[in-house]
Amino acid sequence: MQIVKHINDLQPILNDQRKKGLSIGFVPTMGALHNGHLSLVEIAGEQTDFVVVSIFVNPTQFNDKGDLSRYPRDLQKDVDLLSESPCQLVFAPEFEEIYPESDTRQFNFGMLEQVMEGEFRPGHFNGVAQVVSKLFDIVQPDKAFFGQKDFQQLAIIMELVRKMDLPVEIVSCPIIREADGLAMSSRNMLLSQEQRQNAAHISATLFEAANKSIDLSVDELCRWVIHRINQNEYLNTEYFSIVNEKTLLQVNNWSDPGKKIGCIAVHCGKIRLIDNIVFEV
Ligand code: PAF
Repeated sequence: MQIVKHINDLQPILNDQRKKGLSIGFVPTMGALHNGHLSLVEIAGEQTDFVVVSIFVNPTQFNDKGDLSRYPRDLQKDVDLLSESPCQLVFAPEFEEIYPESDTRQFNFGMLEQVMEGEFRPGHFNGVAQVVSKLFDIVQPDKAFFGQKDFQQLAIIMELVRKMDLPVEIVSCPIIREADGLAMSSRNMLLSQEQRQNAAHISATLFEAANKSIDLSVDELCRWVIHRINQNEYLNTEYFSIVNEKTLLQVNNWSDPGKKIGCIAVHCGKIRLIDNIVFEV
């Protein structure tokens, strides 16, 4: 497995792979890798010939500077984990490599960026679009792999690719959970032992909610989820919304068309966790 820090070193390697007729799979990450990331790398390895993983903590997507400074970083540990995976190349650039000058581009994703995370993390998706469009331009992958835990991010990236007509296929990969149901996230490692135990109450409530959708209206169910999570003294819900999978607009009735996803953000002390669940109604 190669580790490359500079675009000038990366591109000849990738061009050689393309000349050999190999397809490039790409898993963009911010490091602090866990089994959720590794599952993306596994899927990338099944679907493409040469897998690139980027590790870059992108400052432009952090609206909260405390969150940026707390974000876990351990390149050597990440490299060790990836060396056991189908990853063939790690791209770990410094800030100046990605942003030689400040990126002033403003993307417009309409309602997709205004609801949920967009409402509570202003500028977040603009930063994600900035870095992902740059990384796609640098790596030029055939396929890129993203997890469904960041459901809204996935919708934004699909829209970015559609709008900019980028020649990359986005592959949406399932959420990977800990044994107690907590969705895997790099932020989980920042939780204290008590917080970590109580954080499992988030997914447990979502699973219960999925079974309650026959008894309660959409509105009643939303209120039930928020109340139930907030009953736990370690947890404070920022939002819970049941939205249409494509438009991300709130669903009013179970009979509304389209697949419905319940998306949640919860504060556990200083740590903000997100999760989501599909409602099979
Ligand atoms: O999901 C993430 O880890 C990040 O938002 C991404 C896609 C790597 C962009 O920095």
